[in-house]
Amino acid sequence: MAKVGIFFGTDTGNTRKFAKKMAQQLGEAIADKPVNISKASVEDLLAYDVLILGSPTYGDGELPGLSSGVQESWEEFLPQLAGADFSGKTIALYGLGDQAGYADNFVDAIGILYDTFSCCNAKFIGFTSCDGYEFNRSKAQIDDKFVGLVLDEDCQKELSEQRLNDWLAEISSAWK
Ligand SMILES: Cc1cc2nc3c(=O)[nH]c(=O)nc-3n(C[C@H](O)[C@H](O)[C@H](O)COP(=O)(O)O)c2cc1C
Repeated sequence: MAKVGIFFGTDTGNTRKFAKKMAQQLGEAIADKPVNISKASVEDLLAYDVLILGSPTYGDGELPGLSSGVQESWEEFLPQLAGADFSGKTIALYGLGDQAGYADNFVDAIGILYDTFSCCNAKFIGFTSCDGYEFNRSKAQIDDKFVGLVLDEDCQKELSEQRLNDWLAEISSAWK
């Protein structure tokens, strides 16, 4: 089994698209095929030393899932983490959002993932600068950083590829 596990939630496919791009760029010796979180168990995640976890935000700052009218996803998965121990695991988060349409809740979902996995003792890598984004509030923001990579296919599609490449280069020391 490869070292890096990639798990994502999605509704319209953007978060899946970037999961696939990452897996392709890392190569199959490093990363296994990305898995939709609706098909994963906590044990599936615990099988890896390094996890890349992706989520869009739905509703007004919510995880994707049944209550925001999306298919089963992170909302249904997170309660299963109660009591799980991610000590020794390294997590890199990436989030998809829309800074113009949802300026008060921009990429909140990865802030929720950060809080939840922090309680399970995970260590995080891959924080990124908030420079270059225009929004009012985000649960994914700590001081002047986002808790992971932030991609906005609604407003800044042209920047996504470069942001992704820079981020992968930065976090790659986790599996070298
Ligand atoms: C109904 C709806 C609600 C949304 N709510 C938010 C939100 O609260 N915050 C945000 O940053 N983006 C929000 N978005 C934007 C999506 O997160 C964004 O389009 C994302 O790229 C979708 O990813 P997916 O294709 O993987 O589902 C919302 C989009 C829709 C359609």
